[in-house]
Amino acid sequence: MNYSAHLDQKLNDLHEEGRYRTFIDIVRHKGTFPHATWHRPDGETQPVTVWCGNDYLGMGQHPVVLSAMHEALDEAGAGSGGTRNISGTTVYHKELEDELADLHGKEAALVFTSAYIANDATLSTLPRLFPGLIIYSDALNHASMIEGVRRNGGAKRIFRHNDVAHLRELLAADDPAAPKLIAFESVYSMDGDFGPIEAICDLADEFNALTYIDEVHAVGMYGPRGGGVTERDRLAHRIDIINGTLAKAYGVMGGYIAASEKMVDAIRSYAPGFIFTTSIPPTVAAGAAASVRHLKTDQALRERHQTQAKILKLRLKGLGLPIIDHGSHIVPLIVGDPKHTKMMSDMLLDRYGIYVQPINFPTVPRGTERLRFTPSPVHGPREMDALVKALDELWSHCALNRAELAG
Ligand SMILES: Cc1ncc(COP(=O)(O)O)c(C=O)c1O
Repeated sequence: MNYSAHLDQKLNDLHEEGRYRTFIDIVRHKGTFPHATWHRPDGETQPVTVWCGNDYLGMGQHPVVLSAMHEALDEAGAGSGGTRNISGTTVYHKELEDELADLHGKEAALVFTSAYIANDATLSTLPRLFPGLIIYSDALNHASMIEGVRRNGGAKRIFRHNDVAHLRELLAADDPAAPKLIAFESVYSMDGDFGPIEAICDLADEFNALTYIDEVHAVGMYGPRGGGVTERDRLAHRIDIINGTLAKAYGVMGGYIAASEKMVDAIRSYAPGFIFTTSIPPTVAAGAAASVRHLKTDQALRERHQTQAKILKLRLKGLGLPIIDHGSHIVPLIVGDPKHTKMMSDMLLDRYGIYVQPINFPTVPRGTERLRFTPSPVHGPREMDALVKALDELWSHCALNRAELAG
């Protein structure tokens, strides 16, 4: 095989489809989020406003987080120095896991290097703990859950997105004695819609299935203490395993599961993705713990976040722009074509200093390519005005439809 020509072909396929990914090099400025400097490919720099970050609450610059990280750095140095089993468990890791268990009202929690790894490692390990396990997975679950389910070698059933009737059909068709687990999300991050948590818990009870929820786009932001939608809706006790991230609303890095003592002990003991990798640095564990602790009481920040999302949605709807609104904090604006989406994103960045990454297939279905905005409490009225004005101008410039698309 001509390996080089083969790579050219694969990369060219992406270019032709308009879904070749270009990374934008930015440096956010602590204290003035969402402002950042873009280091352009031509060597110049340009100030930009970030509108697509997942540091949803601006906790990445919060003084309580930064001071906890500084203290841990001075106390414990840079890295953790080992896997959790071999010298890499510190008091910082234990404190973080205690905060997380308490957050979700669970007996225990287990921290991984990311929520991707937490999903992948946990879901791929469960069939080893429950031989014959069948996993029922929502069709729009995140890639990390899909990977975990696929790699585990056990049986899987995919139910149509949020379709509880379909899930019931699939559950009913299987051996009542087979161990079962339903895996789904609380907030689906590309459309910003919510999973039917209570209905799924009811089905789990009826069919004696375990429940696994990914709350990555909800922890920190929903519920009176930031415990996610399961906390908001008082359903956390009905979920067996809750997955979350420390990298989005908590503004740091890392992922976790929270569950019963026994479940956590088993995953801790059997999951290669937990066992055979260096634990997160003490600085990161300390910063994340400070962030989780802080957000247990900062309800005002959560409310400002929701208000910002509502204002942006209202203003874009007022212009007739086709946004999706499921009542969450995520604001997807459908462009519907990969090349147009990329072009809009390029123009926003270059002409207006507004950074929003295009979202294309396979992250979203073809024909629903979009710009996905993540308004936050650190976006002020000035930033919001600039964004709305730029989108209004560009929408007209590109002759994109308004009213019909919005309907
Ligand atoms: C639904 C969902 N789960 C898991 C992850 C992975 O989270 P992390 O960035 O902590 O690996 C993501 C990341 O975007 C996500 O959207």
